[in-house]
Amino acid sequence: MRVIVTEDYAGMSRKAAELIAAQILLNPQSVLGLATGSTPIGLYQCLVEKYRAGELDFSRIRSVNLDEYLGLSPEDDQSYRYFMNENLFRHININLANTYVPDGIAKDPVAECARYDELICRLGGIDMQLLGIGNNGHIGFNEPANTFALSTHCVALTESTIQANARFFADSEQVPQQALTMGIGQIMRARRVIVIASGSEKREALRKAFWGPVTPEVPASILQMHPDVTLVMDRQAAPEAACV
Ligand code: F6R
Repeated sequence: MRVIVTEDYAGMSRKAAELIAAQILLNPQSVLGLATGSTPIGLYQCLVEKYRAGELDFSRIRSVNLDEYLGLSPEDDQSYRYFMNENLFRHININLANTYVPDGIAKDPVAECARYDELICRLGGIDMQLLGIGNNGHIGFNEPANTFALSTHCVALTESTIQANARFFADSEQVPQQALTMGIGQIMRARRVIVIASGSEKREALRKAFWGPVTPEVPASILQMHPDVTLVMDRQAAPEAACV
């Protein structure tokens, strides 16, 4: 695992954007696995700036997002599809038809999960997967559990995730309780993984995930077994073990 510690959130965003930009330059047809949440917003802004400066071409890029809330339509401003359109897609020259997010209002969510896994296979797998990390160590919405769920699946969000996500909603009652998420199998098969984290509230989750035992109780800990992970975090998030 490569570890990059930056001075602050802006530095983390720039570094991670450089890694994604390098991937796009090396393979302009890359399949990018993308994440939502507050952590990647700055990084998406950096990618938009690079695109506007003529440094990046997204026209042949394909993207697959990690997850979506169950019950939210793509038009809902709390949906992850809406987030991606607003924070990245509509500012760059990516073909929207080549961007994929699980369908939160699929009539049959279980069939939607199978369709999403098939889609990722059809695309040839993920070249570079971007991940944030939950305060409880989740990646995507793979919540702490007794086993690692391998394929895309429906998940009941834990109370800690609902509380953490309540900041985006008028009140915690409105936070959806379920989501569709890519499984650990698809994430682990990604050829490269970039994990980003900012702020002291992520420090303990990072310590457990990357300097503790591998356990489904800390889903991100499985990444210790991945051959190509780069962890980009700011000083506030960095566990002591990362600073030696
Ligand atoms: C988002 C996702 C989540 C977030 C994680 C961190 O698509 O899959 O795992 O990456 O909850 O969220 P933030 O960045 O808001 O702290």
